[in-house]
Amino acid sequence: MSKAPVRVAVTGAAGQIGYSLLFRIASGEMLGKDQPVILQLLDLPQAQKAVKGVMMELEDCAFPLLAGMIATDDPNVAFKDAQIALLVGARPRGPGMERKDLLSENAKIFTVQGKAIAEHANPDCKVLVVGNPCNTNAYIAMKTAEKVGRIPSKNFTAMLRLDHNRALAQLAIKTGRPVSSFEHIVVWGNHSPTMYPDYRFCTSNGESVKDLINDETWYREVFIPTVGKRGAAIIEARGLSSAASAANAAIDHIRDWWLGTNGRWVTMGVPSDGSYGIPEGIVFGFPCVCENGEYRIVQGLPIDDFSRERILATLNELMEEREGVKDLLG
Ligand code: NAD
Ligand code: LMR
Repeated sequence: MSKAPVRVAVTGAAGQIGYSLLFRIASGEMLGKDQPVILQLLDLPQAQKAVKGVMMELEDCAFPLLAGMIATDDPNVAFKDAQIALLVGARPRGPGMERKDLLSENAKIFTVQGKAIAEHANPDCKVLVVGNPCNTNAYIAMKTAEKVGRIPSKNFTAMLRLDHNRALAQLAIKTGRPVSSFEHIVVWGNHSPTMYPDYRFCTSNGESVKDLINDETWYREVFIPTVGKRGAAIIEARGLSSAASAANAAIDHIRDWWLGTNGRWVTMGVPSDGSYGIPEGIVFGFPCVCENGEYRIVQGLPIDDFSRERILATLNELMEEREGVKDLLG
């Protein structure tokens, strides 16, 4: 017997990430090849015509798993009974901007959507914020939703998976080994240049990647900044922010959360429970494993002086961002 469809809400459906994301969700790449989905697409009133065009193309793919779709400019309709909410819709940065420069423009979106999710979504809705600055936007949505109280705060997550994937790709290029050989990479903190890609625990076919590369200067002066500034490098090269790789990372994040990681570590931006001294509620990139539809922060990793310094730097930036949205959250 076929499974009941899962309702997936996607905001910013007419945008560039939306265009790379929706077809893959509808083809079963996110929730599995036996899982029908209903797409609930949100965008601004002026983008509704473009959303209709995307829906026409989705229809024309004749995806067997696409059990229905709606388009709306009303968040209360878009999030109704949603079991998964991908919050992509927000302004992207242009050349010369940092992601936190978007905070004043994008923050309000996440108060409105956090409330709508809390009031209308499935009570176990899993939320992934992609729109930047994604950690603090996820924090805003979570805090707004907490006032309604129907959705667990831990269900509000932010996308650090693109940074995780970028780190893997750089290690694969450096060592000449396949991406699939690597395990246990983690990117701590904020999705911003202060993020801390940490390869201390990373292995390739069981061998320590740190020992294999054996070049701390490359690690500190090339690897960490390359991963941290990759988004800006793509904007510089393309004239537009990353889209297909961002959509791919969103698929990876939700797929692993929904279907499990079989013990593999993945980086997720999740509200801290106090782990590693990160204040509770701050949405922070942590190493996670997923099982039975739940994520768990990997515990007990040693934090050396360099790592502590880097983790504090990215935490301080998130605390500043939190301070900046205090008034918005009342
Ligand atoms: P885009 O401009 O192509 O599309 C954004 C879409 O969102 C547009 O269709 C716009 O109409 C819509 N939108 C704006 N406000 C909305 C609202 N209130 N409700 C619903 N829809 C709304 O942008 P994009 O390239 O798709 O990027 C979207 C966001 O994702 C940006 O903030 C970008 O910085 C961010 N991003 C994050 C990551 C990450 O790793 N976290 C990676 C890439 C991009
Ligand atoms: C990225 O990392 O590619 C996105 O967050 C877009 C950006 O502004 O860097």
